[in-house]
Amino acid sequence: MTSSSPFSSKPGNAIAQWSKPSEDFDLRLKNTLSRLEQSIKTLNPIKQASSLGPEDIVITHLLETIGIAVPVFVLETGALHHQTIALLERLQAHTKMPLEIYRPKAERVIEFVKTKGQKSIYESIENRKSCCQIRKIEPLGRALNGQRAWITGLRREQSQTRSEVNFLDNSELSTKGYTKVNPLVEWSWGDVWNYIEKHSLDFNPLHDEFYPSIGCAPCTRAISLGEEFRAGRWWWEDENAKECGLHVKSPQQTSSSLA
Ligand code: ADX
Ligand code: SF4
Repeated sequence: MTSSSPFSSKPGNAIAQWSKPSEDFDLRLKNTLSRLEQSIKTLNPIKQASSLGPEDIVITHLLETIGIAVPVFVLETGALHHQTIALLERLQAHTKMPLEIYRPKAERVIEFVKTKGQKSIYESIENRKSCCQIRKIEPLGRALNGQRAWITGLRREQSQTRSEVNFLDNSELSTKGYTKVNPLVEWSWGDVWNYIEKHSLDFNPLHDEFYPSIGCAPCTRAISLGEEFRAGRWWWEDENAKECGLHVKSPQQTSSSLA
């Protein structure tokens, strides 16, 4: 599957635009729930990584449905949109899952801003990656310390670089041996929004304003008609550079099935 423009003819409301289940969605959901349940039982200790994006909101709800407490962690980079922070507060107030928030080390952020300047991320990939290292990758290491696996919202449809992601993935260089569980690999964007609509899940209002994929505020913009799903992420960089290091693949990807 390849990525494609997420826009239909009804702009302005995420659910109206995007909620459209695949024909076999009920079966897809049943399989997802059973494989996810099996994964959290066999790959303990395990946590969910949530950026508070639509996929992550769906997964947290799937975990609540399964009814086994799985910690959900958010990397609060210090550069998120205020809408994302507000959503985080609402999640803290309402979720049944244990919620963990990891922040970057203040002294490292200050040092970066002092020596390079926050705007230096637009000047070179090296600077941008340093910022991601400080604000995301180092806190990710702390979040995963002692874990066997983590659950993410990666889907094959999201981008060319993610088109071969598997439900179970042991290939992540950046996570040094933690198995990654990607329960929504086969879900379409329409499936995700159909699930959000059916369960009346809370979501980031920026999705109503042409932001299908949301990361940190300085590195995310709205997209235009015809642009690809992740076109608003690190838009000034080449397509192949558009990963922050949370999901970098090694050359040999291994996978196995729990189903
Ligand atoms: S990114 O690498 O480009 O930033 P993306 O935003 O597509 O990733 O999110 C993919 C998955 O990575 C999410 O579903 C989530 O599991 C994890 N993730 C991304 N950003 C965060 C974050 N700030 N906190 C926790 N998990 C995150
Ligand atoms: Fe820094 Fe942008 Fe990476 Fe966020 S996405 S950590 S602001 S470079």
